Amino acid sequence: GAGRAPVIAVDGPAAAGKGTLARRLAAALGLPHLDTGLLYRAVGRRMLDRGADPRDAVLAEAEARALTEADLGRPDLRGPEVDMAASAVAAIPAVRAALLDWQRGFARGRGAVLDGRDIGTVVFPDATVKLYVDASPEERARRRLLELRARGVAADPDQVLSEVLARDAQDRNRAAAPLRPAPDAIVLDTTGLDADAAFARALAIVRERLRSA
Ligand code: DC
Repeated sequence: GAGRAPVIAVDGPAAAGKGTLARRLAAALGLPHLDTGLLYRAVGRRMLDRGADPRDAVLAEAEARALTEADLGRPDLRGPEVDMAASAVAAIPAVRAALLDWQRGFARGRGAVLDGRDIGTVVFPDATVKLYVDASPEERARRRLLELRARGVAADPDQVLSEVLARDAQDRNRAAAPLRPAPDAIVLDTTGLDADAAFARALAIVRERLRSA
């Protein structure tokens, strides 16, 4: 329908395919896209760079407040070390608070597709559409392994699975904005779906919701 610019929340656990899905939705709908995980990754990266413990709340908040656009374009924001550092800084309430305005400002006036963990629960509780993208841990580990191999990174399947499970536990069990579907989120389980099928399903859900919004 007519009215304010749509905000589409795409949440879910690590390696569920949210990023690709959100990017494709944004392109199809003509909306800007923000991968909010990058914000936490950039803060984790800055903590590693200064040799700090990513669980140090005082330093992590300072790094979150010092974040610039340039930090988000760094090529060294992926890999097991940054994965865990990002997940650690993301458990600190002051870090989350520091990144809130940034995320809300991104969508202001023009709408957006944002992917993350708490977009539908905390950042945009009034989002126009909320998708919660999930897949079994084994399937997510398999996808992560393929992604690493495509980038030429040697990885051990058992280790990738245990890292996926460790990050799930850390993201779900934290007190601040834990990973969980919003009560009004539409859950999309992509375990048996390839990327194209998942995208088709997601786009159909979003279009249907936008019609009735
Ligand atoms: O989506 P990702 O794997 O790039 O996210 C990296 C970490 O950042 C993830 O382990 C949890 C955290 N995160 C979060 O807490 N809230 C978000 N909206 C996005 C990411």
